[in-house]
Amino acid sequence: MNLKKLIVLVTFSLLTAALSVAHAQSYPGLQWDGYQKWYHVTFEAPNTGDPTGFVGKRHGGTKGYREIYINSTGEATNKMAKAFPYPVGTVVVKESYNSKALWGKRKKPLLTIMVKLPKGSAPSTNDWEFYMGGNGKKKGHGIDSKWGKFCTDCHINAAGKDFVFINSDFLANE
Ligand code: HEC
Repeated sequence: MNLKKLIVLVTFSLLTAALSVAHAQSYPGLQWDGYQKWYHVTFEAPNTGDPTGFVGKRHGGTKGYREIYINSTGEATNKMAKAFPYPVGTVVVKESYNSKALWGKRKKPLLTIMVKLPKGSAPSTNDWEFYMGGNGKKKGHGIDSKWGKFCTDCHINAAGKDFVFINSDFLANE
């Protein structure tokens, strides 16, 4: 390779690296700020289709592409190295993209988030607070709140795993 080609290649690589950093949106002051650096549950491949049989039309439906991240508090439980329930302070973030193309660009995912509250805060949602949209405005815990009920009505299907569908045992069996 001649020098000119090498310079073009290096410049191009630096530019793409800079662009991918620019895509990592930040959420200052919110509990999921910087989640892109957490343990990446779906590190092998994004979830698509309906591997659990429960996604229906939610989370982008069967054509959606989904990436899941979990903070260090919940990482060991997700890897099944610690027993359920998830520890207080666990934060699970799921990005949904409506198509493979949008996932490819990693552009503006819809975020849905679960945060484990102190024990006894909301027994009907297993002490999970649910967030929709990523800006923190749509949230709720307890079956009597709108989002608490909406999310729990389906996540209750994963009650044996403390409401979290995708743990390492599930990925291993996929
Ligand atoms: C109709 C069922 C359904 C509803 C309603 C639903 N989810 Fe989910 N959710 C799923 C399924 C199934 C998965 C597993 C991921 C997959 O299939 O890609 C999941 C995964 C997740 C995950 C990743 C952790 C896990 O369980 O694997 C989070 C976080 C999440 N959902 C948050 C929410 C929030 C917040 C709401 C309410 C705004 C919600 N979900 C509503 C079905 C649902």
